[in-house]
Amino acid sequence: MITRKRLSAFAVRTFALSAVSVSVVFSPLAAQSGRMAAPSRGGMVVSSHYLASEVGQEILEQGGNAVDAAVATAFALAVTLPSAGNVGGGGFLVYHGADGEVTTFNFREKAALAATERMYLDGTGEVRDNSNRIGLLAVGVPGTVAGMWKVHQRLGRLPWADLLEPAIRLAADGMPSTWAMQNWLGSLPGRAGPLYDATREAFLKDGVGMYEPGETFRQPDLAETLRRIQRDGHDGFYRGETAKLVAGFMAEHGGLITAEDLARYEADELTPIHGTYRGYDVYSMPPPSSGGIGIVEMLNILEGYDLAEIGHNSALYLHLLTESMRRSYADRALYIGDPKLNPDIPVERLTSKAYAGQLRSSIDMERASRSDSAAFNTVFLAESAESEETTHYSVVDAEGNAVAVTYTLEFGYGSSIVVPGAGFLLNNELGDFNAIPGRTDSRGTIGTPPNLVAPQKQPLSSMTPTIVARDGRPVLAIGSPGGRTIINTTLQVVLNVVDHGMTGSQFGRAIESPRIHHQWFPDVTSFEEWGFSPDTRRLYEAMGHAVRSRGGQGSAMGIYIDWDTGLRWGAADSRAFDGGARGN
Ligand code: GLY
Repeated sequence: MITRKRLSAFAVRTFALSAVSVSVVFSPLAAQSGRMAAPSRGGMVVSSHYLASEVGQEILEQGGNAVDAAVATAFALAVTLPSAGNVGGGGFLVYHGADGEVTTFNFREKAALAATERMYLDGTGEVRDNSNRIGLLAVGVPGTVAGMWKVHQRLGRLPWADLLEPAIRLAADGMPSTWAMQNWLGSLPGRAGPLYDATREAFLKDGVGMYEPGETFRQPDLAETLRRIQRDGHDGFYRGETAKLVAGFMAEHGGLITAEDLARYEADELTPIHGTYRGYDVYSMPPPSSGGIGIVEMLNILEGYDLAEIGHNSALYLHLLTESMRRSYADRALYIGDPKLNPDIPVERLTSKAYAGQLRSSIDMERASRSDSAAFNTVFLAESAESEETTHYSVVDAEGNAVAVTYTLEFGYGSSIVVPGAGFLLNNELGDFNAIPGRTDSRGTIGTPPNLVAPQKQPLSSMTPTIVARDGRPVLAIGSPGGRTIINTTLQVVLNVVDHGMTGSQFGRAIESPRIHHQWFPDVTSFEEWGFSPDTRRLYEAMGHAVRSRGGQGSAMGIYIDWDTGLRWGAADSRAFDGGARGN
């Protein structure tokens, strides 16, 4: 329970950052980081905001199951982590019951009925004014509330209204602003124009200034939106007052989403992607996520090597990971999109051991291959950056039911557009569509058909909420934010657990270990800058790989269940400043 007494336990610390002294409110409860996994005999919740993890834990203590805690945590993150937690975005949930039932829920955003394939292009065929990422055309019909409603209807135990209560309290009574929030909110005063009036009002003190870290930050309009969801469930968002506010704002400012778009939105329950890896079962999201197919394809390739013997993060190990990533990301571009509009995605072939064997046989143990553009109309350009926001959280309850959720607004704070009177941020998820039909370039722009814009279509995603199981019982719930890096981050945590034994009290290492990323194009591997020795990097480059350094890759939030001891080990990645694992 987030009581005032608990909030008053915060202490202010000062530390030097880039030669600037910054006052930070630091909860002693938030001090857990991934390197030190937290054990629990009961349930466990791990998320990118410690207050949301506490909400999930509280729901478990009230007798809720993992699904109840996951629903409550989603709504709590919509309040405490406005950069990615949301009601105005969408995502995916993977469930593995202690009884062996496995299922997934798709609540990805959809393009409006009025969307068209070329709606972002100007007369020369270029994207007009970044309109696929900035402004109302980039906004997809939100899916989160429908997703939470559907999973709760199917698998929840506590009353729906109870699961909204903690989030409403956090929004109405307030929560301490944190350093991480200040960091992000610093960009808001620069957002000019009427589209952003409600954003400034919602997130800036008196609409103009920054909240100091530790100052109480309230979101009264969001509290009212959450109350309507609490009272009326799915319809409390997609019909009535909230839908009216969204559709009215869209109509006034040239957006496409109508009351009909909102009223039509339903989440889907989908059969998971299933693979096996060294005796474990791997369950993850099917399309419109590319995550499940991607991780299973890479694991199948890597199963042919003795990775433990080759050595964690050795040059040869990184080479084999890279070559698997290269091949899997090429297939992602070629085949994967919204399955409702791409009924022929060859899921079975892409996730088969036989196909992985063919791909493996094309890997040279000593030399990097080149990303092959032969199948594409590819032009070579300088590299461009891609947003790596999104958030993942994992939940396990006392019975051993496990939930992995990754959901997102796309950019940090999504479109940065708050719906006036409703207090929540809209996503800019439609930036995940291929905006320019036919253009695939060396910096990572993809223009292949499966992921072109269409009415009611869901954009391709990389989100990879994943549950690894053994003998019918979940042993690992995992996932991460990070745009296209998500699949590779999740892959590397799974390898750390299965191949390198970073389990139990060592599980934090699985989360914290340095990571790499390759995505076919650009044909360059990013290394987390602080994580690899120059000697390893030299050996790797000598194989013919191009390398660049980058900051932290993703924020993996995981739980490892040790069925022998009964302990659940939760680890929040220290790459997420406010993250926390909370057990009971
Ligand atoms: N917006 C991140 C993803 O869907 O992969």
